[in-house]
Amino acid sequence: MRVNGMIYIRNASQVVTVAGASDTPKTGDDMGQLHVIENGGVVLEGETIRFVGSDKEAQHYVDSKAADGDEVTVIDASGKLVTPGLVDPHTHVVFAGSREFELDLRLKGATYMDILNAGGGILYSTARTREASEAQLVEETRKRLDRFLAHGVTTVEAKSGYGLRLEDELKQLRAARVLNEEHPVDLVSTFMGAHAVPPEYKGDPSAFVRLVTEEMIPAVARERLAEYCDVFCEEGVFTPEQSRSILEAGKKWGLKPKIHADEIVPYGGAELAAEIGAVSAEHLLRASDEGIRAMAEAGVIAVLLPGTAFFLMTKPANARAMIAAGVPVALSTDRNPGSCPTESLPFIMNLACLSMRMTPAEVLTACTINAAHAIGRADRIGSIEAGKQADIVLFDAPNYMYLQYHYAVNLVDTVIKKGRPVIV
Ligand code: NIG
Ligand code: FE
Repeated sequence: MRVNGMIYIRNASQVVTVAGASDTPKTGDDMGQLHVIENGGVVLEGETIRFVGSDKEAQHYVDSKAADGDEVTVIDASGKLVTPGLVDPHTHVVFAGSREFELDLRLKGATYMDILNAGGGILYSTARTREASEAQLVEETRKRLDRFLAHGVTTVEAKSGYGLRLEDELKQLRAARVLNEEHPVDLVSTFMGAHAVPPEYKGDPSAFVRLVTEEMIPAVARERLAEYCDVFCEEGVFTPEQSRSILEAGKKWGLKPKIHADEIVPYGGAELAAEIGAVSAEHLLRASDEGIRAMAEAGVIAVLLPGTAFFLMTKPANARAMIAAGVPVALSTDRNPGSCPTESLPFIMNLACLSMRMTPAEVLTACTINAAHAIGRADRIGSIEAGKQADIVLFDAPNYMYLQYHYAVNLVDTVIKKGRPVIV
């Protein structure tokens, strides 16, 4: 749909604005405060939200601002729910190939780590990604982004980490940059060269850490290919000490730290995140109470990935303990070929509610404004407020609670990205 003038989204059953938290992420009880307008209206112009309020007020706004002859596109939202565009703050979406055969192995008892240690898992995807050209990566990833958009996701973070050598890490990040320009979904890039130790450094992880800190990070920063640096801090992958040195090197080059922490075993990842001032710690399935307390104190955002726990058939993170401790919680798919191959953030939201007992209101906060904070975009996206970017989703749902009730189906009706209806 091409639009020249204003867009007036009229008579929504509910507009969930999630307003008022663009400066700091929501924590504690505030995560449940969504700011819901019954019978709401939203007015967009160009790439920007101009007005949000009751439908009556929105109609007034349109009447007072639209000059004679101005085009106003009306989107009838009767019976529908309107929310900010969903934000996915943790994906490994740029890669080649797939790993469906691992499911059989895992069902027969092999663990995720067994498969990685045998040279499969991340290393299998690394081999496929190394073989692919940048253009192939762009085309494979484009389809995944199309699916994200169809599920109401308008911004994703994208990590590298399937190259594990300089040229191939750069190739992944360049593919993300191309897609950020070409695809309606916005991508925010994270360098994750320390995702696994590649076969050529097997037995000498310290040498690989030096490659990451001395060559890869400077090259990524010089080409301005990423805003964040991440590391898989996990027993058998990178130790807390190695992780610290990688994230500190990233900081020196202007890459803000994120960390894959305590995913498989408790390993001090949450504590390390707090200590080095990470923007976010991600996974946290086995985070210690002490680590959770430290994260709350340091204001580290917990990015939780219940789809990964579901797909790896293990117990999810303790979201309730984190919210009770005052840790800001965000949610994400973790979209990757091994531990969570879905683009359905709405299904992840269902899992957050049904397997981690987050309330429907907390879940929406976690996938909008808190997720936007986790990728440094809360000034622009994550809530419906005048002046913010016009990323909006209409769901075929009468209220926000319905999203977690009518689960595992795609309720998206319309997606508007930067003021342009892209899914109608
Ligand atoms: O977040 N844990 C490390 N990385 C991904 C999985 C990547 C893969 O298996 O390809 C994760 O779960
Ligand atoms: Fe991940």
